[in-house]
Amino acid sequence: MSKVLHRKIQHRLPRATGGEGPYLIDASGKRYLDGCGGAAVSCLGHNHPAVLEAVRAQLDKLSYAHTAFFTTDILEELAEHVIAHAPDNFTHAYFVSSGSEAVEAALKLARQYFLERGEPQRSHFIARRLSYHGATLGALAVGGNEQRRAPYAPLLIKAAHIAPCYAYRHRRENESEAEYAARAADELEQKIRELGEDRVIAFIAEPVVGATAGVVPPVDGYFARVREICDRYGVLLILDEVMCGMGRTGDLYAHARENIRADLVAIAKGLGGGYQPIGALLMDARIHDALASGSGAFRHSHTYIGHALAAAAALAVQQTIQRGKLLDNVKKRGAELFAALRARLGDHPHIGDIRGRGLFAGLELIAERDSKKPFAAEIPLHSLLQEAAMQNGLMIYPGSGCIDGAQGHHIMLAPPFICERAHVEELTDKLAKSVGQAVSAAVSRAA
Ligand SMILES: Cc1ncc(COP(=O)(O)O)c(C=O)c1O
Repeated sequence: MSKVLHRKIQHRLPRATGGEGPYLIDASGKRYLDGCGGAAVSCLGHNHPAVLEAVRAQLDKLSYAHTAFFTTDILEELAEHVIAHAPDNFTHAYFVSSGSEAVEAALKLARQYFLERGEPQRSHFIARRLSYHGATLGALAVGGNEQRRAPYAPLLIKAAHIAPCYAYRHRRENESEAEYAARAADELEQKIRELGEDRVIAFIAEPVVGATAGVVPPVDGYFARVREICDRYGVLLILDEVMCGMGRTGDLYAHARENIRADLVAIAKGLGGGYQPIGALLMDARIHDALASGSGAFRHSHTYIGHALAAAAALAVQQTIQRGKLLDNVKKRGAELFAALRARLGDHPHIGDIRGRGLFAGLELIAERDSKKPFAAEIPLHSLLQEAAMQNGLMIYPGSGCIDGAQGHHIMLAPPFICERAHVEELTDKLAKSVGQAVSAAVSRAA
């Protein structure tokens, strides 16, 4: 009889009691290969000794000092590290406690930037359908996850949504990749014009869409054109790298691959790897300068921003990734993962698409290959697959609604950067077995 309000009230969860590298262990001693890092969080796996030691050392010095009164060595060191490894245009970081907080701060900072510049008429945000930017009301409003938005729709600030860049579903048969990239990006320009050429604050997007659409990388050229459009209308580009950033795709910042400059980038999950709750907002020099030479303060804060223990964990996670050259491992194991997934499941009649980058993979589950028709929305294939995988000792992240918010099932994989070849094999073996079991259960429910 738990007194905790769990996510699903009737759902009985196993009790996690320990962790060891890429495994979580429950109270019965059963081991689960963490194939999704929870929600793409645990980039160093569990109980990494370097991170534990750093958090303990900080705990012995100081846990918390309110940021209106003090800064701390550890926070300054973390900021130095993050900025030194970020794209060159970022000069400052604002440290918060979650991805939603990072996005919320991005929206407010973007608005304040235009107030500082004397453009108070800018009040619109444009975002994309099939995206997720967080659970707080501002982040939820710009998010395009229909299932999560629907109950709160009357409470949300106005935000306009355009289509995502989602080649498997949206690219036309007679269209080249470049044509599709242009068509998808040009929707942004149409929307800016519709709202008013000097009325839009920012466009926000996940460079690689995460859980809502099931790991969807953009086609080449899409973000370059988005950047051009933003520049044409003075619109800021906010990239949400909460899930896809901090090395998950093989590059520390997912947008590095697109060769573009972002104005604001939100990061979180992989920043602290789950060892402490932490997120951050990175800002371009001109945004910081506008505040510094204007009102002199960001009009937004939380009690726990810049928390010393969280900073210690994040710095240790980031140094471990850098010193161990773990992004090389992400690329190497990622290539092995995609090769293994394609070999085992590439021709499976109910796997329509295998996509992603680095150690970030999405599998879209379908009823029919040729028509790409999904299983009926009432058949929870994603949950059946997750249940089968848990039985088989594998954690995967399930999702539904990847086609239009209601139809479509998918899963997401995000194993830790420290995984070895044997873990990739274990993951694919257990996943292939679980897919077979879940599809049989779904087919018998459909019959
Ligand atoms: C892309 C993206 N943005 C924002 C968030 C919100 O982060 P948090 O749950 O830490 O508030 C998430 C969480 O899944 C996410 O995937």
